[in-house]
Amino acid sequence: MDLDLAIRGGTIVTSSGRYKADVGIRGGRIVAIADTLTAPDEIDATDRLVMPGGIEAHCHVAQESAAGLMTADDYRTGSISAAFGGNSTFIPFAAQHRGMSVAETLELYHERGKDSVLDYAFHLIVTNPDQQAVEHDLPEAFRQGITSLKVFLTYERMMVADSTFLDVLALAKSAGGLTMVHAENNGMIDWMSRRLVAAGHTEPRYHAISHPALAEAEAINRAISLSKLVDAPLLIVHVSTREGAELVARAQAEGAKVFAETCPQYLFLTRDDLDLPGMEGAKFMCSPPPRDAETQEVLWQHLARGTFTVFSSDHAPYRHDESGKLANGPEATFKQIANGMPGLAARLPLLFSGVTSGRITLEQFVALSSTNAARLYGMYPQKGEIAVGSDADIAIWDPAETREVRLEDQHDAMDYTPYEGMRLTGWPVAVLSRGERIIEDGACVAEPKRGRFVTRGPSDYFGRPGITVPEMDPARNFGAMVKP
Ligand code: URP
Ligand code: ZN
Ligand code: ZN
Ligand code: ZN
Repeated sequence: MDLDLAIRGGTIVTSSGRYKADVGIRGGRIVAIADTLTAPDEIDATDRLVMPGGIEAHCHVAQESAAGLMTADDYRTGSISAAFGGNSTFIPFAAQHRGMSVAETLELYHERGKDSVLDYAFHLIVTNPDQQAVEHDLPEAFRQGITSLKVFLTYERMMVADSTFLDVLALAKSAGGLTMVHAENNGMIDWMSRRLVAAGHTEPRYHAISHPALAEAEAINRAISLSKLVDAPLLIVHVSTREGAELVARAQAEGAKVFAETCPQYLFLTRDDLDLPGMEGAKFMCSPPPRDAETQEVLWQHLARGTFTVFSSDHAPYRHDESGKLANGPEATFKQIANGMPGLAARLPLLFSGVTSGRITLEQFVALSSTNAARLYGMYPQKGEIAVGSDADIAIWDPAETREVRLEDQHDAMDYTPYEGMRLTGWPVAVLSRGERIIEDGACVAEPKRGRFVTRGPSDYFGRPGITVPEMDPARNFGAMVKP
């Protein structure tokens, strides 16, 4: 068979196993996997791991925050940074802001997305699911392959009421889509914040105090309960606590269609990182906040036992200057500082350190970095797999390379990385997207704007039966049928 390119001599790793073979590529797709393949163009992958390119499924680029602050990264710098981190696809958010319709939101983000060097999709952040949205714009978004929505239970300018959340869950379910939720109790955070600020406790470290673990547990429990009422699939994003992970694991054991995500900041940082002099701690402010060393261990255990389907960066890049964290001056209270931290390039090397330390297997690394996201978000097997017929989206890793995380290697628009100086073993050395080299020899060699919008289908995971609560069971029908 005529090939354009062959990757030779490496160990292929998928979410279900590993084996030595060559990979043959033609027309941007994997067309052969065999012992020995030759091609006019070859990549030597001896002593290397050949894995599906990472799929970054939670990041904010070219997006205004709730307070109107633009992220430092756009689709160009964000996609390049993600590529350096071993990713070949990413799914940023298209955020509906006050006064914008869902249709206008999508039009805006389709324009922004054109700068991407990686293939990309959008999750739609819904803040105002009004009649126009529910009856027309959201079903239309699903038809256009945007099959996941995110709602917030906190942030005054973004949050939705429980009954509105139920509307979104039911609508997404009927369209085969997935609802994602930022689950923290807004009232608890607001109450604690007001008291802390009134007492003069305004430094970044109080951001972590004002987001107690209980606020996450309460909102996760509520979100799971709401999803069970209408038997709709739900993904809890950025779970940061033991209590949250345990609630998810329990719901999964009951058979509920509940999925969860965690992020590197909850495995590698703690609330003590916010406790730096002056405004330095602002670099480590995100919501929910990093917790403690014991929680890090518990979250690693939940990664290993499968509670988490995806592991994402939640890259929310605000520089440590007047354009970002310091926009409200050096005297700002923690309530006036943008939340979020970068992680597009660091996510996968950080996760790989869990392979090196024996906390997760290589196969779990592939599942968490790529394959599960492709399945959950309706891109499988086009993305997230090394198999004949899949896009040739491939990351080649050197599992033995050891080096430190450095800002200059992130290639994003940021002026810091929260992981600076961490010494990690296992790094991506080359990345292909649809058979084209995009990262090679430490450089980005991608054509500008080469990324394509990925039209997604329904999730792979929704086929299995879920939970029907008695009051919603048509078979029981206590005299009043309620359709979700
Ligand atoms: O602090 C964070 N995570 N900022 C980004 C927005 C969000 O909540 O995901
Ligand atoms: Zn969030
Ligand atoms: Zn986020
Ligand atoms: Zn660079």
